[in-house]
Amino acid sequence: MQLYVDSANINEIRHAAALGIVSGVTTNPSLLAKEDPSVDVSKRILEIYELIEGGHLSVEVVSTDTDGMLREADEILKWFPEATIKIPMIEGGLRAVKELSRQEIPTNVTLIFSATQALAANNAGAPYVSVFVGRLDDISLDGIQVVQDVCDIWDTQQLDSQIIAASIRHPIHIIGCAQAGADIATVPYKVLMQSLKHPLTDAGLQSFLNDHAKMQAEKAKLMAKN
Ligand code: E4P
Repeated sequence: MQLYVDSANINEIRHAAALGIVSGVTTNPSLLAKEDPSVDVSKRILEIYELIEGGHLSVEVVSTDTDGMLREADEILKWFPEATIKIPMIEGGLRAVKELSRQEIPTNVTLIFSATQALAANNAGAPYVSVFVGRLDDISLDGIQVVQDVCDIWDTQQLDSQIIAASIRHPIHIIGCAQAGADIATVPYKVLMQSLKHPLTDAGLQSFLNDHAKMQAEKAKLMAKN
């Protein structure tokens, strides 16, 4: 399962990209709104794209009608031809996906909360379907189970679009999505960093370093004697 970072923060993306663990970035209007309001969105997106060296980068539209979404997509593609256009899972969005797919422009359908929505997005022609896990858990539904349902259907029906597990809240979500068979998990920076940590790794490294230092000290003592 590939990992993307779900962020619009340049320092977070720079750090995650330097570790070599992410192969793409997803942004959304809320993530961009968390950044400095004076930020030039197109400049920021191009900066991010440079950091991920040609990886996946989804840019979301904010129109809610098909024509508006297509106009926005057109505009985005003028300054960023490699963009994957992120489209909400609404009827107008499906129409836009159908048209963009006809033009061979990649789309990522976002705000998917059920297997039937995922199926519709795939059938409209989206190469990426984003299934939200954490927001389902928030309303006492089982987000991982929905990812599992989508993955099972994809296997049975041999469907092509890539399943992105989104709205990831903690490292156990990453494991659940990987076990379910998601192609990609898009993970907030904080959760990505948490997922790298283990107290036994830190304790183990400290004891290796202590033992190495002890051995060096013994060697130095022996040399001094001779
Ligand atoms: C997906 O692409 C979205 O940007 C994202 O995963 C939303 O997650 P949230 O529920 O933490 O806002």
